[in-house]
Amino acid sequence: MKNKPIIAGNWKMNKSNLEAKSFVSDIQNRILDKGDTKVIFCPPFTSLFTIVDTLKNSQFSVGAQNVHYEPHGAYTGEISIDMLASIGAKYVIIGHSERRHIFGESDAFINKKIIAVNKSNLIPIFCIGETLEQRNSGLTGKILKDQIEFGLKKIDSIDPDKFILAYEPVWAIGTGETASESQVEEAHLKIKLYLKTLFGSKGEQVPILYGGSVNEKNARPLINIDGVSGFLIGGASLKIDSFCEIINTVKKIKR
Ligand code: PGA
Repeated sequence: MKNKPIIAGNWKMNKSNLEAKSFVSDIQNRILDKGDTKVIFCPPFTSLFTIVDTLKNSQFSVGAQNVHYEPHGAYTGEISIDMLASIGAKYVIIGHSERRHIFGESDAFINKKIIAVNKSNLIPIFCIGETLEQRNSGLTGKILKDQIEFGLKKIDSIDPDKFILAYEPVWAIGTGETASESQVEEAHLKIKLYLKTLFGSKGEQVPILYGGSVNEKNARPLINIDGVSGFLIGGASLKIDSFCEIINTVKKIKR
């Protein structure tokens, strides 16, 4: 694999500012050889600046969990792309299933964010994935295709160095149930194909992360699956031992 594997930690609504600072400082001390992997911390907005500051001069990166597509205005509670960029965030998660299902974000709404982020220097981590009901009805392929097509509508070209996709089956998120190796491989191959159809060889090169109950025990088999470029990790990214072990496992395997 020529590109560095990506390990992104999605902290969701967890950790105070102080906890965040001590967590990333500890990881910095424990992961000494950071060059082999791209590690991205996605904390809540409240600790973004602290983490960027703590990690300056390191090879770790920082991303936000959400963004609004408008540059400014009367959008109470929202944060713009420029605001994130101005404090040093480099990545932003878009279309996470919790945003889709709990906060009702539609493909069209997500598409507006992708269009805006694509014009900026932020790198989107665009999440897609099917529910259990959709999988059981044989709709996985169609759902992934639709989420890609609608989410990336009006996007003419994609730079694989500036775009990350995350396949996260909804039923595997936070449940302790990981998708099987064949399910992950099949989904990743389909996603690659859809991206290739839309964007040619550039689309085919987009890194595709797997997310959904990744932990220190299943990281090894999962990272070995064809088409898996890294992980988007929720629960296990909050535990220092688990997160470090996952980083070390990935470093050892993807050389
Ligand atoms: P999980 O969450 O690792 O806790 O399943 C993944 C995610 O929501 O990105």
